[in-house]
Amino acid sequence: MSDRYQEFTASPIGKVLVKNLGLPSPTRLERYTAGDPLVTGTVLVGGRGRLAESLPGLLDTLGVASTVQLEDGAKAKGLVFDATGLSTPAELNALRDFFTPVLRRLEGCARVVVIGTPPEKTKGSERIAQRALEGFTRSLGKEIGKGSTVQLVYVADGAEGGLASTLGFLLSPKSAYVSGQVVRIGCHTGRSKKVGAVADLTRPLAGKVALVTGASRGIGEQIARVLHRDGATVVGVDVPQLASDLQSLMKELDGDWLTLDITAKDAPQRIAHHLKEKHGGVDVVVHNAGITRDKKLANMDEGRWDSVIAVNLTAPEAITRELLDQGVVNEFGSIIGVASIAGIAGNVGQTNYAASKAGVIGFVDAFADDLKDGITINAVAPGFIVTAMTAAVPFATREVGQRLNAMSQGGLPVDVAETVAWYADPASSLVNGNVVRVCGQMMLGA
Ligand SMILES: NC(=O)c1ccc[n+]([C@@H]2O[C@H](COP(=O)([O-])OP(=O)(O)OC[C@H]3O[C@@H](n4cnc5c(N)ncnc54)[C@H](O)[C@@H]3O)[C@@H](O)[C@H]2O)c1
Repeated sequence: MSDRYQEFTASPIGKVLVKNLGLPSPTRLERYTAGDPLVTGTVLVGGRGRLAESLPGLLDTLGVASTVQLEDGAKAKGLVFDATGLSTPAELNALRDFFTPVLRRLEGCARVVVIGTPPEKTKGSERIAQRALEGFTRSLGKEIGKGSTVQLVYVADGAEGGLASTLGFLLSPKSAYVSGQVVRIGCHTGRSKKVGAVADLTRPLAGKVALVTGASRGIGEQIARVLHRDGATVVGVDVPQLASDLQSLMKELDGDWLTLDITAKDAPQRIAHHLKEKHGGVDVVVHNAGITRDKKLANMDEGRWDSVIAVNLTAPEAITRELLDQGVVNEFGSIIGVASIAGIAGNVGQTNYAASKAGVIGFVDAFADDLKDGITINAVAPGFIVTAMTAAVPFATREVGQRLNAMSQGGLPVDVAETVAWYADPASSLVNGNVVRVCGQMMLGA
């Protein structure tokens, strides 16, 4: 779907108006195409701490070229800074020392990743310094521009071996619309730090089975496509009314389908039975199906309230419990919820929807501590994603929604799908209990 404002700002007259009126000028974001290298330039590595020494080797295993010193005149496509060694607030000046001289030497759509130790796992001055990293990365994300992104990754002591898939995602164009996020790796005590094996980095889901609800269109369709690209056999679920769309997509992807309403009483059992009998289990469960039934609370009828809570929240919980109770989810499996920025910031006319989407975040928290066998649960929280649904929003509201983020544009369904695929990767088995916003660092609910 085209972004007419973005096309206008790229035109000769648009460029003049943007410059003279100080209008937002969205950069055309680079996105990943199958077969591309993860990073098209060099990543500069710096900092001091537990990871600094191993980072060049780790990047090498991902096929990413790195250096610890940029040659004269050279530019960097990415920066990775190990801040785990910063143990007092005074030592935060290492951030300025590293970043300030290189920020003007970044290529467009560059990637910045700062690695820290989870503050809650540290004490005293170290805790203060590590917590400070969040303000640093979120601010840099808002000022860096040119389609570049900035993230903070907290890696618990002993979880260093679980970083590769996250670095691969955050340094590549797969994370085009993800910025200003904080990711936690290996933070749940008592969980094994074993990482799922991946034989082929370009097809991490080869031999795996992925269930995607609401798969026939919009974001769900893209999730199905990206998981298929990554090697999974996709089992799509959607309502009977969309059976023919669902079937033709799943046939195209050599997948399988199940037409049912996820809120039906027997839906969890039917899904569990189908996955067990036909596929011997499931590796990835994506709870994407969702609906809105907007009304201000003063006018909210029971039907609107109940249907939104049932589809967005009650059904994902019931299906997850059934799959876990029946032992249908395989080792290193991944359960993924689709929340929304509305569940973080709230929205007029969406008390039902925002409650359901904040509930999805609670759903992640409620399960994250207790999952066994390396199974993870995480959620994505999309911001303004350009779909047929958002195209129907009135022009002025849509313009405000699209521009109010550090990228000055809406995201695409594929941006949500790539984030889901990163969680689904068996090598992400230490990425548990996270909610990552796919919102171009939206100003709302920051
Ligand atoms: N588009 C956005 O900007 C945006 C932003 C934040 C969150 N989200 C979330 O992303 C998800 C996908 O959104 P989308 O924009 O692609 O919406 P969409 O309406 O295009 O697709 C939703 C799909 O879910 C299916 N579905 C709905 N109720 C179902 C039920 N009871 N049983 C089975 N399937 C059912 C629909 O038939 C449809 O195929 C939703 O959870 C939505 O809340 C979207």
